[in-house]
Amino acid sequence: MELAFFSTKSYERASFEAAASRAGHRISFLEPRLTAGTAALASGFPAVCAFVNDELQADTLSTLQAGGTRLILLRSAGFNHVDLNAATRLGLIVAHVPAYSPNAVAEHTIALILTLNRKTHRAYARVRDGNFSLDGLLGFDLSECTAGVVGTGKIGALVARILLGFGCEVLAHDPYPSPDVESMGARYTSLDELLAESDVISLHCPLVAETYHLINAESLSRMRSGVMLINTGRGGLVDAPAVIEGLKSRRIGYLGLDVYEEEADLFFVDRSAEVLTDDTFARLLTFPNVLITGHQGFFTYEALQNIAETTIANLTAWERGTGDLVRVPQG
Ligand code: NAI
Repeated sequence: MELAFFSTKSYERASFEAAASRAGHRISFLEPRLTAGTAALASGFPAVCAFVNDELQADTLSTLQAGGTRLILLRSAGFNHVDLNAATRLGLIVAHVPAYSPNAVAEHTIALILTLNRKTHRAYARVRDGNFSLDGLLGFDLSECTAGVVGTGKIGALVARILLGFGCEVLAHDPYPSPDVESMGARYTSLDELLAESDVISLHCPLVAETYHLINAESLSRMRSGVMLINTGRGGLVDAPAVIEGLKSRRIGYLGLDVYEEEADLFFVDRSAEVLTDDTFARLLTFPNVLITGHQGFFTYEALQNIAETTIANLTAWERGTGDLVRVPQG
């Protein structure tokens, strides 16, 4: 089967080429993001593969469908970037990789927490410059903290487990509480209580209508002063201008982001020689207590292998009409 592969990055070619060749598929690697403007590149391909910052809105999907595409393979867990109603209307099947390495994202979340707390990113540069002063590097004992985990699915449950291992009191909020997370020692609470009682708040819920801008001026006003806020979920969970005000007022003491609402025009590309035109993002970068990574939570060797294997297995399952295809819920 021929697969058109959008938003190709050099780091993923080897794992996908190996998985495709084992299964007898051929991949055309395309550099552009999949958008309404580039969808015609997939003309004649029965299947396309898309990444998180591709735009799979109705116009893109119509062009794909008109070009003969019938299967959309998302090489991600999240599918908030796909208009699923339009896909269903057009007869397009959408498959994804529900879990490739929840450990990768959970461990990256902890890396952000530890780095922000103990300021190792600043210490690294300081020591290399021959500056051994400790001023400004004061941290706190995580074991004394209350940590709030919003969303205790695959990733949030692992984050809760690691934080419990550090000795934190862990509060959790999820519309579907997990008995496993509870038996580990986390305590489920309302979102209100979690926001009010946590020293560290970490977001691991999906981006859906009800979680859009979950962190906004109003919810920030209910948090502890100096709270550490971590978002490795999706950028749209956080209202970035409100967070900037929260940083300026010191309500937020630490901010760790692996995702950003407007990341589609920023991340995954070397822009070091470009002028940054996103003023909100630029302002975030000016705070010493803000640490941003460019959506690399998933980025481990094990995750890349799993993403390639599952995506290609989805293609094979669809071609053979077996029941193993991992579809997203399309209604
Ligand atoms: P999951 O589906 O296993 O867990 C999500 C949990 O959120 C579920 O337990 C669900 O009940 C809960 N939830 C739904 N609505 C909620 C609400 N309003 N409030 C609180 N909880 C709510 O998903 P998984 O694999 O744990 O991934 C979590 C998120 O992490 C994904 O949705 C994705 O946005 C993000 N992600 C980020 C990556 C990165 O590289 N930074 C990579 C992979 C996923």
